[in-house]
Amino acid sequence: MTPARPTMVDGTDGAPGGRAPSARPTAKVAVVGAGSVGATLAYAILTRGAAREVVLYDIDTAKVRAQALDLAHGIQFVPMAHVDGSDDVQACAAADVVVVTAGVKMKPGQTRIDLAAKTIALVRELMPQLVHVAPDAVYVMVTNPVDVVTYAALRYSGLPRAQVLGSGTVLDSSRFRYLIAQHVGVAVQNVHAYIAGEHGDTAVPLWTSATIGGVPLLDLEPLPGRESLTEPARQAIAHDVVHSAYEIIAGKGATNYAIGLAGSRIVEAIVNDEHRVMPVSSLLEDYRGIGGVCLSVPTMVDHDGAGQLLSTPMSEAEVTALRHSADTLRAAAVQFDL
Ligand SMILES: NC(=O)c1ccc[n+]([C@@H]2O[C@H](COP(=O)([O-])OP(=O)(O)OC[C@H]3O[C@@H](n4cnc5c(N)ncnc54)[C@H](O)[C@@H]3O)[C@@H](O)[C@H]2O)c1
Repeated sequence: MTPARPTMVDGTDGAPGGRAPSARPTAKVAVVGAGSVGATLAYAILTRGAAREVVLYDIDTAKVRAQALDLAHGIQFVPMAHVDGSDDVQACAAADVVVVTAGVKMKPGQTRIDLAAKTIALVRELMPQLVHVAPDAVYVMVTNPVDVVTYAALRYSGLPRAQVLGSGTVLDSSRFRYLIAQHVGVAVQNVHAYIAGEHGDTAVPLWTSATIGGVPLLDLEPLPGRESLTEPARQAIAHDVVHSAYEIIAGKGATNYAIGLAGSRIVEAIVNDEHRVMPVSSLLEDYRGIGGVCLSVPTMVDHDGAGQLLSTPMSEAEVTALRHSADTLRAAAVQFDL
């Protein structure tokens, strides 16, 4: 039986102009959670022309309608696309990519562990509903704690490993590249460097494999007027990568722009079958002896989701730190009965 189409913000059945949807060889992206991150991610997808159909789904009816309307009113100024918002999960039907940003607000007196437990319960309820309507989608988890959420989503969806990935350290790596670029005095686009492991306190900066213009970063002579990248300077950068989110949250309540762009870039890599190397979070089976945990290492992202993991060169200290990150995440998963 064909499920009934949901009612959308424009009062139609979801098809542009109220007509039956035509088969378009272009992507439909569903964003679950129309909060700061979900709405900004949808905005980034639209401005970058990454999808022809963007659907927001949220349990907050008034908010999801408002966000979708606000985005839809700007369509004239971006590559052609259709935007809708709904409180019915059916809106996500047949999406090519589903990005999950749905989150639970922290209540006064609640701990981070309480919040994480509530979030895992949300994933447990949400994933089967989403998979029911969009079984072929690639799922990109953004909700924190993202590595544990990705592991939970994989488990509760029953989908194959490649089809469920997390935004992982894509954002952390862009912060890392930004800080290196600032220190060295080059364009951020010329810095190739990754943060691996947990999106969080045990994140691992991969200095050994970092390069600028093909020159290993650790061998790079300082440019005129610039400080060399000493051990204390490297430690300060690594610290800022992890802690800058706290400063942003203290100042404006949430981080949304950089994660919106990072999430949109992951969506594009999937939709366009780019085979792009990104540090997304996915289930490791036997990566340098690490398995049974979702975390980030440089990974080929294509139409099927998280593909080949790269054996990026790592020092012994970096591998030890990655194992520590994996142990921390595995312990968190056990704590939530995953
Ligand atoms: N992975 C990263 O790099 C990264 C970066 C920034 C934020 N985040 C995470 O993204 C998440 C969202 O952040 P935010 O600032 O947008 O929060 P927010 O509170 O503004 O938005 C969350 C939205 O989720 C909706 N929601 C709750 N339960 C739902 C359900 N069952 N189905 C559909 N929608 C539901 C809420 O109504 C709300 O609109 C948080 O977990 C945050 O920590 C992750």
